[in-house]
Amino acid sequence: MASKPVRNKSKPKFRKGHSASGKKLSRSVAIKVNPSETVVILDFGSQYTQLIARRVREHKVFSVILPYHSALETIQSYKPGALIMTGGPANVYDAKAPLPDPRIFDLGIPVLGICYGLQVIGHLLKGGAVEKSERREYGHAKIQIARGQDLFRNFPAETDCWMSHGDKLSKVPDGFEILAHTSSAPIAAVGHRAKRVYGVQFHPEVVHTPLGKEIFRNFLFEISGFRGTWTPQSFIENTVREIREVVGNGRVVLGMSGGVDSSTAAVLIHKAIGDRQTCIFVNNGLLRLGEAERVLETFRDRLKLNLHYVNAEALFLKALKGVTDPEKKRKIIGRLFIKVFEKEARKIGKVAYLAQGTLYPDVIESVSVHGGPTSTIKSHHNVGGLPKKMKLKLLEPFRMLFKDEVREIGRELGVPVEFIRRQPFPGPGLAVRILGAVDKKRLELLRKADWVVIDEIKKAGWYEKLWQSFAVLLPVRSVGVMGDERTYDYATAIRAVHSNDGMTADWAKLPPEVLGRISNRIINEVRGINRVCYDISSKPPSTIEWE
Ligand code: XMP
Repeated sequence: MASKPVRNKSKPKFRKGHSASGKKLSRSVAIKVNPSETVVILDFGSQYTQLIARRVREHKVFSVILPYHSALETIQSYKPGALIMTGGPANVYDAKAPLPDPRIFDLGIPVLGICYGLQVIGHLLKGGAVEKSERREYGHAKIQIARGQDLFRNFPAETDCWMSHGDKLSKVPDGFEILAHTSSAPIAAVGHRAKRVYGVQFHPEVVHTPLGKEIFRNFLFEISGFRGTWTPQSFIENTVREIREVVGNGRVVLGMSGGVDSSTAAVLIHKAIGDRQTCIFVNNGLLRLGEAERVLETFRDRLKLNLHYVNAEALFLKALKGVTDPEKKRKIIGRLFIKVFEKEARKIGKVAYLAQGTLYPDVIESVSVHGGPTSTIKSHHNVGGLPKKMKLKLLEPFRMLFKDEVREIGRELGVPVEFIRRQPFPGPGLAVRILGAVDKKRLELLRKADWVVIDEIKKAGWYEKLWQSFAVLLPVRSVGVMGDERTYDYATAIRAVHSNDGMTADWAKLPPEVLGRISNRIINEVRGINRVCYDISSKPPSTIEWE
């Protein structure tokens, strides 16, 4: 297919990160994913890029996200069976427009351009043209399908879609036909059947396009001929083999937090190398009610992992005594954790690898077409973020997975549902949920209140609908009356939020009856708390944790 020469190819501008191929991460050993079918997604800075990758994987086809300016050889090294170009905030005709290597159209594999991706097709291929639109089209639109074939196989004549664009295709490139239109976009979808290049102006990846899933299905199976072989079983089989090969006779150490990522990684690695993996579980005294016991009972006693338990409660509480500044608390906890972990790891003897449950969103090289915010709001301490000076190689079996995929793998490996469906819990634990100084008494109060919150939210069927739900102990005392007695006790705040990734969050509209039950039970069951408030702030401008 003849492509126009690329004009004014922009200089790539992207945040520092790790390449999906793992090249920049010198400490990370490559666990090859080896999927038999791959879609390469070229990212032009869309807010939906990861969603596109997940939509493809939901159809059991592996996908990898690469920056739009990736070299052709890099793209080819993934042996892609198809390419998807994402949306993005730029305009194709701008001097610095982000554009891919035009030879991607000569690879002979199917291409799907979404929104800006469609405009890239119109801009780079002969005969096409993109023009500025008088007005932005944003929101729901009715789309009329010209022919129920190809991308729109088995579609009705009209369906809903989600639009979010300014520019539009004004002329289709040579050999393309118009597949769909809306009342304000005469060219809403195009295709070149022989070359298998397609483009849609709308966003099939978002839920507001109800048949979006079918568009991906048609592109992947009807047009690209994939079979859908990316399954939890195939991942486990392949990764167990890879871990055995990479680790050889070496030993692996893993920091177990009880969260889904570290637990599933531990069980997977155990399957590969058994007791040559040592999991270290540090109880920092800042865990929730019964948490340490449940982790030990599940992973050490039931699943028979080689798990070292360190009770470092006294050490952490001593170091935190009188500390009220949130950042100081985080730093103290982070440093002490590393110290304790290292000391414990030394007891194991010679270890070559540190295993971590790092996920794909942490390693995707993000494209920032217009630049983006980089300032640190909170210096997160992760149980996973471990000692650099230990000079261990990193074993990260989930580097290419999304969280929901790790959950599926965990389920397949027999990790109990309680751990798989777990809401995230911060590394510094309850210390960032006790405002002000942390001590044993306050920890006891918060543990009991928090347990009531989780218990009632689970009973009401809300636990899995929420990103997080927990109690926060406020450094405020207020007057109350219990029976005939005056009380002067602590107040607690309930936090329950919806979120996709913790970056933004909405406060949850919990039913008043559930809030009522939580409040009643906390005040009745937790001596020392006489007031319960509900936090109705979203992120931004608030954060999820109070500290
Ligand atoms: P914020 O409070 O920044 O939290 O809105 C966003 C998400 O990150 C979690 N969080 C942490 N996780 N170490 C962690 O491992 C930390 O220091 C930390 N601080 C916040 C928080 O629970 C939420 O899911």
